[in-house]
Amino acid sequence: MSRQVIIVSSSPRKNGNSVILAEQAAAGARAAGAKVEIIDLANLTLAPCNGCEACQSATSVDCVIDDDLTSLMPRIRRADALLLAGPVYWFTFAAQTKMFIDRVFFALHGPEGHALKGRPLGLLMTYGDTDPYTSGAVNALRSFQDMCRFIDAPVAGFVYGSGTEAGDIQKQPALLKQAYELGERLGT
Ligand SMILES: Cc1cc2nc3c(=O)[nH]c(=O)nc-3n(C[C@H](O)[C@H](O)[C@H](O)COP(=O)(O)O)c2cc1C
Repeated sequence: MSRQVIIVSSSPRKNGNSVILAEQAAAGARAAGAKVEIIDLANLTLAPCNGCEACQSATSVDCVIDDDLTSLMPRIRRADALLLAGPVYWFTFAAQTKMFIDRVFFALHGPEGHALKGRPLGLLMTYGDTDPYTSGAVNALRSFQDMCRFIDAPVAGFVYGSGTEAGDIQKQPALLKQAYELGERLGT
């Protein structure tokens, strides 16, 4: 059976730079034979985690908040690999990405470990600065490493680069190739 790769894209911009990286990764994963679903958070209505921790009780499955993430959670549980794609906002993940992480990563953490334990996870990030340190991208990369360590999931790779206007990233073929190759690895 082919592998299921889910890519969660959080840019609110049409033709956003991180969206372009997400599409490249999707193309690579499909070329490797995987089934790929791109989830565009900008098209979903989702609320922030309310801290109720109902998802951590032995009887609860997933999150009690009923919104567009409700039907998504079981699909993420079944994914063989997960990629998060999004912009740097204010020196770390954009709020859209963080909201997804808070809700989904917490809900999928149960008494027997995390649903994504052992599944490769990757991160695609774009930022306006020319440097991953001064842009704040490194803060997101470090948080992502901590998340993966905490849930016991291997980091499949990071692809990150600079672009200001939507579509700028198209001028960096080497970066597009990196995203494609990360997708290929996740899809194999
Ligand atoms: C609200 C906001 C905050 C931003 N904060 C940063 C930042 O802290 N560091 C940075 O390098 N770029 C920052 N940027 C620029 C974006 O990260 C950059 O344009 C990125 O390529 C957008 O990705 P997208 O096209 O996929 O949405 C910010 C942009 C916005 C709209």
